[in-house]
Amino acid sequence: MGKTALITGASSGLGAEYARQLAAFGADLVLVARDRGALEQLASRLRSTYGVQVEVLTADLVKPRQRDKVVARVADAQRPIEILVNNAGFGLPLAFESNDIEDEVRHLQLHVEVPMRLTHAALGAMLQRGHGRIVNVASVAAFIPRSTYGACKGWLVSFSRWANGRYRPRGVTVTAVCPGYTHTSFHERMGLGPGEEGVPDLMWLQARDVVAESLRDAARGAAVSIPSWRYKVLVTLARFAPPSLAARIGERGR
Ligand SMILES: NC(=O)c1ccc[n+]([C@@H]2O[C@H](COP(=O)([O-])OP(=O)(O)OC[C@H]3O[C@@H](n4cnc5c(N)ncnc54)[C@H](OP(=O)(O)O)[C@@H]3O)[C@@H](O)[C@H]2O)c1
Repeated sequence: MGKTALITGASSGLGAEYARQLAAFGADLVLVARDRGALEQLASRLRSTYGVQVEVLTADLVKPRQRDKVVARVADAQRPIEILVNNAGFGLPLAFESNDIEDEVRHLQLHVEVPMRLTHAALGAMLQRGHGRIVNVASVAAFIPRSTYGACKGWLVSFSRWANGRYRPRGVTVTAVCPGYTHTSFHERMGLGPGEEGVPDLMWLQARDVVAESLRDAARGAAVSIPSWRYKVLVTLARFAPPSLAARIGERGR
């Protein structure tokens, strides 16, 4: 491939899987997250398995000085980033009223402000070169009312749709990826053990399938990717569901 991909939240879950699949295509990588040990371990595995170059960029993306290092790396025209994957994220309990408001602000920054800044930084160089690919990891929660998480992911889907329409004719595609429940560290980090989400086994996806389908959709320039038929059908039904039913679905899980 001979191109470089920068992935945020690459230390686990979907981000680590994007790193693995893009390395398998021959892409060099820049891996971003807070956990240096996990990033170094992944980097050395990918270098030895796929023979690609891997840079580790440790950053807490909600801390402005650390985030700006990543913004600068994305904008560096001497070391072009061809694929940007905005993936870092975390969840909060649905009880907005009792969540710490500072946690809510960090959640909003990581899911909305950070991808907006990184997309802005990437677009300058990508548009000048006339090619590039941006993948924004949203969620099926974008299509149902689901506290601030659904609102943040809704922003990302709406922004990606618009940006793809505007920049695709100039060679830069922007794709919002909307996974359903996927086995990663996401739910465990919220303190939920196996089965505690109260979601049937049938609804759980594997990270490797989500990433593979979303990369195929991004490669064909889709504005929105909803991995798996199960969730494609559910999202279509949610579009036509009465608001009270959509609200009940949105209250499922944590
Ligand atoms: N799993 C699901 O069911 C699901 C469904 C739909 C959408 N998603 C979305 O998928 C994306 C990836 O989540 P995941 O499921 O793969 O969860 P995960 O395994 O918990 O991974 C989250 C990643 O984000 C990074 N991260 C968190 N806070 C960060 C910060 N302040 N600065 C930098 N990096 C940070 C974490 O790394 P460090 O801790 O090392 O910083 C980790 O690499 C998220 O945007 C999530 O909303 C997940």
